[in-house]
Amino acid sequence: MSLDLIVRGGTVVTASDTFKCDIGVADGRIVQLATAITDEAAAIYDARGLLVMPGGIDSHVHLAQPSGEGVEMADDFASGTRSALFGGNTTVMPFCLQEKGQSLRAAVDAYHAKAHNNCLTDVSFHLIITDPTPAVLGQELPALIAAGYTSVKVFMTYEAMRLNDAEILATMDAARRAGAVMLVHAENEDVIRYLSDAHVQAGNIHAKAHASTRPIAAEREATHRALTLAEVVDVPVVIVHISNGPTIDEVSRARSRGQRVIAETCPQYLLLTKDDLSADGWEGAKYVCSPPPRDREQQDACWRGLETGVFDLFSSDHCPFRFDDTAGKKRPGGTFVHIPNGIPGVETRMPILFSEGVKKGRIDLNRFVALTSTNHAKTYGLYPQKGTIAIGSDADLTIWNPDLSRTIRHSNLHDNCDYTPYEGLEVSGWPVAVYLRGQLMMKDDVLLGSGSDGAYLLRPA
Ligand code: URP
Ligand code: ZN
Ligand code: ZN
Repeated sequence: MSLDLIVRGGTVVTASDTFKCDIGVADGRIVQLATAITDEAAAIYDARGLLVMPGGIDSHVHLAQPSGEGVEMADDFASGTRSALFGGNTTVMPFCLQEKGQSLRAAVDAYHAKAHNNCLTDVSFHLIITDPTPAVLGQELPALIAAGYTSVKVFMTYEAMRLNDAEILATMDAARRAGAVMLVHAENEDVIRYLSDAHVQAGNIHAKAHASTRPIAAEREATHRALTLAEVVDVPVVIVHISNGPTIDEVSRARSRGQRVIAETCPQYLLLTKDDLSADGWEGAKYVCSPPPRDREQQDACWRGLETGVFDLFSSDHCPFRFDDTAGKKRPGGTFVHIPNGIPGVETRMPILFSEGVKKGRIDLNRFVALTSTNHAKTYGLYPQKGTIAIGSDADLTIWNPDLSRTIRHSNLHDNCDYTPYEGLEVSGWPVAVYLRGQLMMKDDVLLGSGSDGAYLLRPA
């Protein structure tokens, strides 16, 4: 058999196994796994001494998303997927935001127009519902889910986007009937509004007030409520970007009642704390995201959640706004409530978890693959096309040097932001090559692919 590619001699790591083998690729798919492939191949990659893992899947990224009057997201599909690729990812899942009054189909068409011919990774959208009219829930949403847009996000916070409980229930019920999974950003907006008004009135307008106005209780309560609503209509629910132990406990309790709950955390809840928001001047704005980073005790709780299997997904929640920019973190207004929420991280997600998790003995290699790739594919209906190394799967392969040490510097990253929250962090382990459906997209820090290489992925309901 004539192959397009053999990846030879690497240590293959999946979510369940670690073994030495050659990988044969033809027509973008894995067609052979063997100790020594003898067939001819158009290209050989010598992976001896390296790990070969399924391409990373980051199922929580924001690209080119409208973010309010005068605010501009730093990354579009071109720069966001470039950054993702250099961080070892082959698929990203950005959000398609329905703006108030907009038809859902129009929102999807607009995002396709932004993504088309601009992606260096494969891409699949989650739908964000902000205007759950009878037409949206009764017609548009079921039609889009049937057409392959099978995950739906709602917000319980952010005044312009949040839904009330009745609207969330109706959206969840429509999603369940059509066979989609729900994602919820769970924070209690009334608590947040009450506390931020009080802070502003008292003149506490520094970035650090962002953390005090979004306390753990607001996240824990909203998570409990989201889980209750999901239980009532019996829909599987992803609680995104969990930041603390009491919220993790809510997830565990719901699971013990038999609920289908998927739990996600992100690098910011393992490495940052609320003290970062207290940095001098406006520097703290660099770390403003929601929920906010907490403290060491809650970092430990999140690590325990990763170690013990409570968390299924480790995503970046890449939501980049430039720091030195009035369309970003220096938005006019000068108080913490004017700072756009979100931080960049799609390129550093996998190196951070590898270095801080695998290298420090907190999780093993197989769990690393599960948390960064396989579980995302399983949760969102991409498995086994994506998220594993198996005969018939897409040849999305990340070749990883486990001993390559790097100091994270924004100047070496590939996004369009102007900072990284992890500047100066020493990490060990970095991707040295990435194949997307058998095509070499990046090797030794050199971009080889083009924006027409990324494909859009529809997913079965
Ligand atoms: O602060 C955050 N997380 N911004 C991104 C939008 C969201 O809430 O996921
Ligand atoms: Zn969110
Ligand atoms: Zn997000």
